[in-house]
Amino acid sequence: MYPDQNSISAKLFERACQFMPGGNSRIAVYQSPYPIFIAQANGARVTDVDGVERTDFINNQSALVHGHCFGPIVEAVSKQLHLGVSFSGPTQAELELGQYMTGRVNSVERIRFTNSGSEAVMFAVKAARAYTGRYKIAKCEGAYHGSYDFVEISRGSGPATWGPRENPEKVPYTKGTPPEVAENAVVFPYNDVALAEALLTPEAANLAAIIVEPVSNRTGMIPGRRDFFDFLRSFATRHGILLIYDEIISFRVGFGGAQERFPAPDLSTFGKVIGGGFPVGAVGGREEVMEVFDQRKGAPPVPHTGTFNANPVSMVAGLAALTAFDQGQVAALNQRGATIRTEIGKLFSELGMEGQASGTGSLFRIHFRGNELTDHRSAYPTKPQEEGLHRLHRHYTNRGIMVSANCSGNVSTALTDADIDHFLAATRESLIAVREESPALLKKG
Ligand SMILES: Cc1ncc(COP(=O)(O)O)c(C=O)c1O
Repeated sequence: MYPDQNSISAKLFERACQFMPGGNSRIAVYQSPYPIFIAQANGARVTDVDGVERTDFINNQSALVHGHCFGPIVEAVSKQLHLGVSFSGPTQAELELGQYMTGRVNSVERIRFTNSGSEAVMFAVKAARAYTGRYKIAKCEGAYHGSYDFVEISRGSGPATWGPRENPEKVPYTKGTPPEVAENAVVFPYNDVALAEALLTPEAANLAAIIVEPVSNRTGMIPGRRDFFDFLRSFATRHGILLIYDEIISFRVGFGGAQERFPAPDLSTFGKVIGGGFPVGAVGGREEVMEVFDQRKGAPPVPHTGTFNANPVSMVAGLAALTAFDQGQVAALNQRGATIRTEIGKLFSELGMEGQASGTGSLFRIHFRGNELTDHRSAYPTKPQEEGLHRLHRHYTNRGIMVSANCSGNVSTALTDADIDHFLAATRESLIAVREESPALLKKG
């Protein structure tokens, strides 16, 4: 049972804290009182250092679309290990994945690779600035686009800091962020055309880019509204602003990304699934814009380098993952995601609890609130709801299920029908347990 202070995980964490602040290098995988250390994994199964096996509905924050140790990826990477893993020179592996992505995503005429999604976003922002000669960036309130200062504004805003909805405060995320960073950001709510227009218009001439997710991760993987994306596209075109879609998490919901449902962006950022489980990111888009990276005629407007950029291990793993994630697989996973959301919705009603599972395609998130979710504020959990999610997460953990600490998750091709049944049964038992512990989460009336 978690937590157990005598467990190997607890002991490893205690040791890790002697050498690393907070005991690790990644805040997203921390849980209190200690994170569970992983020993190994295969397919949909993950075994921790204490020998407990769980079924994975996190898949490294959605990066592992085929689960763990997927045969074609293991084979491609093993072969590459014997050929060398990184060089001071390009490889054909980079060319193959680059060509594949330009064929798969309509809006991507040219592409360059990075080591992470954060870097991809940073270079997309730099490209937009170089191309437009402007430097302000507009982003949605609450949206997470990685760890670059300029896109972190209002990432963590909450009721105490966010101000009026019609004019959201620009809330710096990391302590010590220079005030100029917030001054050069424009923050607007997701999915609200009228407010987006009101907030973007006064800054239109100063904006280099509007960055937005086709599926809003932090809001519960909810889909963007068509009218919102139509508006952003026409507004950006009218004012010479670049429209950037952050597809780092949402790419997996459509064969050509979640953007298939919307007008084409100028630039997109990718990560996670396109690296087959290895470190990766990419920025791609219109040829004319992507030329800011072209070094053939001397120093380009945006010099782009990185010791491990496009390393062949990530490239061959990504190509193996994506070629196996074809139209049929995308549709099958999305269907699984829809089943999970519907069944969890039924469980909430049956148990008389307020709540829902939101999401798009193969991505889902559980909420202890029943209202329509449209943007950051509508999905923001109250204190009792947050406490309920914390309890739910722990019940899942002790029933052999891995979901993120905020009770979001995703499905991989490694899951079987029996795994989905196990997940739904564990959800039922866990919700009943939470209902007993937190009567405040019962439906009112
Ligand atoms: C929408 C979005 N953008 C950017 C990032 C950052 O990507 P990375 O963790 O690879 O730096 C993430 C990661 O979760 C993400 O979900």
